[in-house]
Amino acid sequence: MTESSRLSAVRASYDAVAVDYARLLTGVLEAAPLDRAMLGAFAECVRGGGGGAVADVGCGPGRITAYLNGLGVRAFGVDLSPAMVAVARRSYPGLRFEVGRMAPLDVADGALGGVVAWHSTAHTPPGELPAVFAEFARVLAPGGYALLAFEAGGGRRRLDHAYGHPVDLDVYATPPGLAADRLAEAGLAEVARLVREPDPDETGPRGFLLTRKPPSA
Ligand SMILES: C[S@@+](CC[C@H](N)C(=O)[O-])C[C@H]1O[C@@H](n2cnc3c(N)ncnc32)[C@H](O)[C@@H]1O
Repeated sequence: MTESSRLSAVRASYDAVAVDYARLLTGVLEAAPLDRAMLGAFAECVRGGGGGAVADVGCGPGRITAYLNGLGVRAFGVDLSPAMVAVARRSYPGLRFEVGRMAPLDVADGALGGVVAWHSTAHTPPGELPAVFAEFARVLAPGGYALLAFEAGGGRRRLDHAYGHPVDLDVYATPPGLAADRLAEAGLAEVARLVREPDPDETGPRGFLLTRKPPSA
C-alpha cells in the first residue's frame, strides 16, 4: 500500500466513525488517572518552558486539545479527517482545529512549545515513524516537549470494524524502547516514560513517552 492510499483509508475510516468515536470516548480520560498524570506533567513542562503553542496532532474529536487548554496550555488540533475536525469544532467552538497531516505539519521551524500525539501514530507503519518524529523535532522550539501515547507491544493488527462502523485500518503496537530510540534519533531526548496495564476494554498496555528537544538545539 502506498502512503497516499494508506492515508486515504485512515481518513475515510475516521470520517465514518467520527461522531460515534466522540460519543464512546466521552468520560474515558476522566476515568484514566495515569493518562491525565502524563498530560498534566506535559502541560506543566510546556508552561515552565515559556508556554509556547502546542499542536495536538491527530486530535480526533479534540478531547485532548480541550483538556490541555483547561490546564493553561495554548493547544490547537490538527487531524487528517474532516469529519473529526468538524466534531471538534462543534464541541469546542473557542479552540482552533485544522484538517491536515502530522507529517508534514503546516507549521514553521521552531514555532511550538509542544507537540502531543495521543494514540494518533497507531496507523503509521514503523518504517515511517522516523520521518514523523523528525517533523515533531523540526516544529519544536529548543527546549520544547513532545508527548507520545501509544499501544505498547509489537506487531500489526487488522481492523475492519470499529465504533459501530466498517473501517479499513492497520493498527501498530510499538515497544516503548523502540519508540524512545526513534524519538532520540530524531533529536528528542527521553524525559520520562510510563507503561500501564490495559483497562478491560483496551487491547494492550498503554505506553507514554515524554521527550524534549535540547534547549541548546
Ligand atoms: C485513535 S484516534 C485518536 C484521536 C485523539 N488523539 C484522541 O485521543 O481522542 C487517531 C486519530 O489520528 C488521526 N490520524 C491518523 N494518522 C494521521 C496523520 N498522518 N495525520 C493527521 N492525523 C492522523 C485520525 O484521523 C484519528 O482522528
